[in-house]
Amino acid sequence: MPGIARIPSVDGMRTALITGASRGLGRALARGLARDGWHVVVDARDADALSAAVREIGGSATAVAGDVTDPTHRADLVRAADGGLDLLVNNASTLGPTPMPRLAELPVADLADTFATNVLAPLALVQDFLPGLRERGGAILNVTSDAATENYETWGGYGSSKAALEQLSNILAAEEPGVAVWWVDPGEMNTAMLRAAGEDADSAPPPERTAAVLRRLVADRPPSGRYRAADLPAEPAAAR
Ligand SMILES: NC(=O)c1ccc[n+]([C@@H]2O[C@H](COP(=O)([O-])OP(=O)(O)OC[C@H]3O[C@@H](n4cnc5c(N)ncnc54)[C@H](OP(=O)(O)O)[C@@H]3O)[C@@H](O)[C@H]2O)c1
Repeated sequence: MPGIARIPSVDGMRTALITGASRGLGRALARGLARDGWHVVVDARDADALSAAVREIGGSATAVAGDVTDPTHRADLVRAADGGLDLLVNNASTLGPTPMPRLAELPVADLADTFATNVLAPLALVQDFLPGLRERGGAILNVTSDAATENYETWGGYGSSKAALEQLSNILAAEEPGVAVWWVDPGEMNTAMLRAAGEDADSAPPPERTAAVLRRLVADRPPSGRYRAADLPAEPAAAR
């Protein structure tokens, strides 16, 4: 973003926190950023799956197993990113109950859980890391969905949470001109989440393709705003 100086981390490496990096888009993005020379801090609830992902990520990575909705875990993440962050990626997400019910049958307690993961935890992490992000002229990348704006039947719980995350991002961008805030619809990807939604995941592109687009976005540092991965170029060297 023009006019924002980027201060390298103390050890000269930029640091990114990517939530939900044991599989899918988070893992692909963490692997890509690590290859680009970033230090990545990653989390997921399943510690074994996260360890396996970190072995595959290679490069410089710190794994902190836990649930983003847990304040103690978020404090652990702050400690793990000791020198502060240059990039916060709020990627971890839940569909809520599956098969996804219509709104008429959606238990409100389940919707609260969905919002806790998809909206409240990302905002809490933003609040935790914002002072350092401001200082470094860092960036926040919130992963949203086309379900935030489309009226797909049975996607009301998840979709409304992603819509809330989009509007939080929109207002954050206005309030924090010193930090780049991007909220991105990643498009369909062949991941466990799409499969759990009952969609034909096998015919969707791999998450590595979207990860390559997001790496290019981070490198190009466009103005704060909403982006669709489908409209953006990919990092050519990274599409592997
Ligand atoms: N796949 C698609 O087609 C698609 C389309 C539009 C948008 N998106 C968005 O893209 C992002 C990535 O999705 P994906 O398809 O890669 O999902 P995924 O394959 O289900 O991976 C989700 C990751 O988040 C972790 N996670 C979930 N809940 C967590 C929590 N409470 N605390 C910490 N980690 C948690 C999971 O590990 P644990 O379960 O071990 O915690 C896993 O590592 C999400 O924001 C999703 O909403 C996906």
